[in-house]
Amino acid sequence: QAAAAEVQMFSVPSYACQRRTTLENHNAVLTDALSLLAENAELSDQEGRGVAFRRAAAVLKALPGPVTGLTQLRGLPCLGEHSLRVIKDILENGASDEVESTRQSEHFKALKVLTGIFGVGPKTAERWIREGIHSLIQLRESGHTLNRAQQAGLLHYDDLNRPVTRAEADAITEVVVRAVVAVAPGAEVTLTGGFRRGKLTGHDVDFLITHPEEGREEGLMSKVVSWLRSQGFLLYEKTTRNSYLESTEGPARPASNMDRFERCLTIFKLDEDQRPGSEETKLWRAVRVDLVVSPISQFAFALLGWTGSKLFERELRRWAGHEKAMSLSSHALYDNNQSRYHRATSEEEIFAHLGLEFVPPSERNA
Ligand code: CTP
Ligand code: MN
Ligand code: MN
Ligand code: MN
Repeated sequence: QAAAAEVQMFSVPSYACQRRTTLENHNAVLTDALSLLAENAELSDQEGRGVAFRRAAAVLKALPGPVTGLTQLRGLPCLGEHSLRVIKDILENGASDEVESTRQSEHFKALKVLTGIFGVGPKTAERWIREGIHSLIQLRESGHTLNRAQQAGLLHYDDLNRPVTRAEADAITEVVVRAVVAVAPGAEVTLTGGFRRGKLTGHDVDFLITHPEEGREEGLMSKVVSWLRSQGFLLYEKTTRNSYLESTEGPARPASNMDRFERCLTIFKLDEDQRPGSEETKLWRAVRVDLVVSPISQFAFALLGWTGSKLFERELRRWAGHEKAMSLSSHALYDNNQSRYHRATSEEEIFAHLGLEFVPPSERNA
């Protein structure tokens, strides 16, 4: 009777893009545990398992209060047997043996350390681990030839594994705006990624650059990068050319979720105020910065695609495909039933085309 009524039941829609997920998370202990299992799966080439754990964590992030008992979760989407077992263990025992043993495992720790090097993915890390390399010291001593990205990653390892603050993101924004104004007055810079979602820290800083006149964005990246380089702001950069127009498959069916904008992965050299009492003599830190250039005609799609979170993006594409027979990418939205593209000049229009309520960036933290 009365007791039963006190158990708060939760209800959430199936797709993360139908939900409002702020940074306020009432179930951080549970979502941290599931995220660790997701990370372990992703690092071990088990993408499907990784997505399942990410989806389960995202459902818990969207709940309006803390979970205290399993019965509250009845009927919720995306909570598979495995995830429920982990949740049950934590609710009943305060911890999950599987999570704790994964966290402590030498293999997982080595994967984390090695993939913490910019330019090193899970496959390379796994190969090194099979050779007995578990640490940066062992890697340095192994005599392996590292590519340019990995060399920079190793050199700036500590800085790149230290979270970027909002203040640092703002300082970098100023530099990027200065660069863009210097080489292309009228071009526009937009902060994307986690900082656009309101996160207080990030692993990098993401920018989208466009020009209000279609076509004027061409050649922009190399000019921006040259300016930054000449002013001494870049410790590393690698530009990938736009391959969208040249692709033969057509935009409706991108070969992968990767978009084909001209982009530049960089490591910035950011001047730093000396921390009080610090013995350090280094007056700067390295920060990962992603620059992407989009033509104005695709800007809304690029903005939506680069704001994240990664799971939110994945769910948007899944919704588009499964529920609407549409193909969404960071370039366009194609309607498979009508055999045509939907135009959009704002994120709001894209949500409307998809039959979704608009979710602002601060509520895309799935
Ligand atoms: N992205 C992408 N293609 C890539 C890399 C990233 O489309 N090759 C998109 C991701 O889908 C995400 C956004 O760019 O929506 C930002 O990615 P990332 O910087 O990795 O993550 P953040 O959400 O910004 O989180 P963090 O604070 O850790 O940087
Ligand atoms: Mn980011
Ligand atoms: Mn990024
Ligand atoms: Mn439409």
